Amino acid sequence: MTVLSAHRADIVTLSVDAIVNAANTSLLGGGGVDGAIHSAAGPDLVKECQLIGGCKVGDAVITQGYNLPSQFVIHTVGPVWRGGKNNEPQLLASCYRNSMAIAAKHKLKSIAFPSISTGVYGYPIELAARVAVKTVRDAIAQPSSIQEVIFCCFSQTDLDVYEFLLQKGTNV
Ligand code: AR6
Repeated sequence: MTVLSAHRADIVTLSVDAIVNAANTSLLGGGGVDGAIHSAAGPDLVKECQLIGGCKVGDAVITQGYNLPSQFVIHTVGPVWRGGKNNEPQLLASCYRNSMAIAAKHKLKSIAFPSISTGVYGYPIELAARVAVKTVRDAIAQPSSIQEVIFCCFSQTDLDVYEFLLQKGTNV
């Protein structure tokens, strides 16, 4: 059985098999959680990202975690919010689905997600969290190595949203 939980934390401090990065298509770093992950991982992370050469919106790629406590970083690129009628929910779901699939492919046991797209990319937290929780619940319906999924929230407001959805059971 896979346990889902929400925590308020800086994702770079988490000792899980993989943390997920809310990256951009260049994979070369940026602000927000991306900047925090690159500065905590050290310069070897951007070198590995350069070799990968980029990532499409909704896709995900995996790298080593270097100086992070997590062994791996799964980089995914969320959609920019443009009002909600430009495939944003499908693309955001794809980020969570592809990240879970990569983690399962690498036989990882634990993974932590930030709230993808809800910072600079402007996706409303209530809507994004619903997509996150539903997509992860769908993914764990298939047996895999993944035993623990953490939704890592940076603010108390975000944590409240996730905790509400996680308490609500499957009907989100
Ligand atoms: N730990 C956990 N969550 C964090 C951390 C952290 N250390 N720092 C920020 N957050 P954002 P996006 C939260 O803007 O919207 C970058 O420049 C933050 O509060 O990091 O997907 C990339 O290079 C918010 O809830 O990602 C892209 O260009 C969430 O992480 C662009 O921003 C996501 O906010 C991606 O934008």
